[in-house]
Amino acid sequence: IDIKSLRSSTKGVVTLDPGYKNTGACESAITFLDGEKGILRYRGYSIEELAEKATFLEVCYLLIFGELPTQQQLNKFHTDIKGQSHVDEDVKRILDGFPKSAHPMGVLSSLTSALVAFNPSSVNVDSEEDMYKAIVKILGKFPVLTAWTYRKRLGLPLDYGDDNLGYVDNFVKMMFKKPSGEYNSKQTVVDALDKLLILHADHEQNCSTSTVRIVGSSHAGLFVSLSAGIAALWGPLHGGANQAVIEMLEAIKEDGGDTKKFMAKAKDKDDPFRLMGFGHRVYKNFDPRAKIIKKAADDVLESMGIEDQVLDIAKGLEKEALEDSYFVDRKLYPNVDFYSGIIYRSLGIPVEMFTPMFALGRLPGWIAQWREMRLKKEPIGRPRQIYVGENLRSYVPMEER
Ligand code: ACO
Repeated sequence: IDIKSLRSSTKGVVTLDPGYKNTGACESAITFLDGEKGILRYRGYSIEELAEKATFLEVCYLLIFGELPTQQQLNKFHTDIKGQSHVDEDVKRILDGFPKSAHPMGVLSSLTSALVAFNPSSVNVDSEEDMYKAIVKILGKFPVLTAWTYRKRLGLPLDYGDDNLGYVDNFVKMMFKKPSGEYNSKQTVVDALDKLLILHADHEQNCSTSTVRIVGSSHAGLFVSLSAGIAALWGPLHGGANQAVIEMLEAIKEDGGDTKKFMAKAKDKDDPFRLMGFGHRVYKNFDPRAKIIKKAADDVLESMGIEDQVLDIAKGLEKEALEDSYFVDRKLYPNVDFYSGIIYRSLGIPVEMFTPMFALGRLPGWIAQWREMRLKKEPIGRPRQIYVGENLRSYVPMEER
């Protein structure tokens, strides 16, 4: 495709494609996805291999810069991130202004946006060097904000982690450290989280990523573009599905475990209820991430000696859906979020923190997509429309209406 000629053209046919189901908004070299075959690759590496062998920080580097890092590159990247993990004390005051009951996604989106005020140099970033500085800043500060958002809900003191720990180990400590200093630092916990974060790290032009790219296309800074992405991820049709899945599975359990009743509700076109964690805009065969997460859920629960009735209900629902013509005909299969909540829960993460965990995982993907868009000097995102409103009419004075 001659992208240059497309770029300069605003003439000709306007395509109407609600939900952009068949519209490509950009060329991208980051993530390859084949929805028919259930293939997902980051920069050419299969998601299965990365989930098994890589660490989340390596995947961050890979997504953002295009290649797996050498040990030296990884060390420098990590050192630079740690050097930027400090969050201005005044941000704590902003956090204090939120009620404890505030949903963490709203708080996180606000705090990420607020960071701009404390880091004005992160806004006008045209050179790769300035972009790098903004990137390591947010990679350093975002886990701190996520952990703080959680601790504030529990009324626990806000704290920094430990620079001697790995990126994910440090996050686990910041989240779970009790005032006594104790927390569950088991390798199983860190490994499971590392895997989940990798599986969520990028997914080409999904709703939140498209949001980040479109906000960034106006040359708004990285942090506010990410803040908008967090807001987009919050919705239950997107990242918010992981919370909605567990709430649905719990409701089925409370109701006596009759999965058939809920299947019937999901199929009833007069009922707005949907089987949460099922269906995907692009995957029309299976979601490769769901396969890995289902196995991980089994492994984590077994290694932690947890028996969770909700996992049995989830498996039962999946089995029924695979045999049900409604779901088969519409190619509705479990997506990444169907089993992830079961793992989060077994790690002691409360349900309203599930979507923030997704945001933490998706952060490198958003950053990589924003960086790609800016380096390619993509034009401002500005879709067209088909106008279906009134024709020209005259203003009617108030007394004549
Ligand atoms: N339960 C019941 N029916 C469903 C479901 C579901 N979970 N998902 C889709 N359908 C039905 C629709 O009602 C529609 O039926 P129809 O053809 O009879 O009208 C058909 O399947 C196609 O659905 P659309 O909504 O048109 O598909 P779309 O690609 O727009 O939506 C989406 C995809 C949003 C993921 C949808 O499947 C859904 O709402 N799933 C539940 C929420 C969820 O799990 N979201 C997480 C997605 S993964 C992620 O974002 C990380």
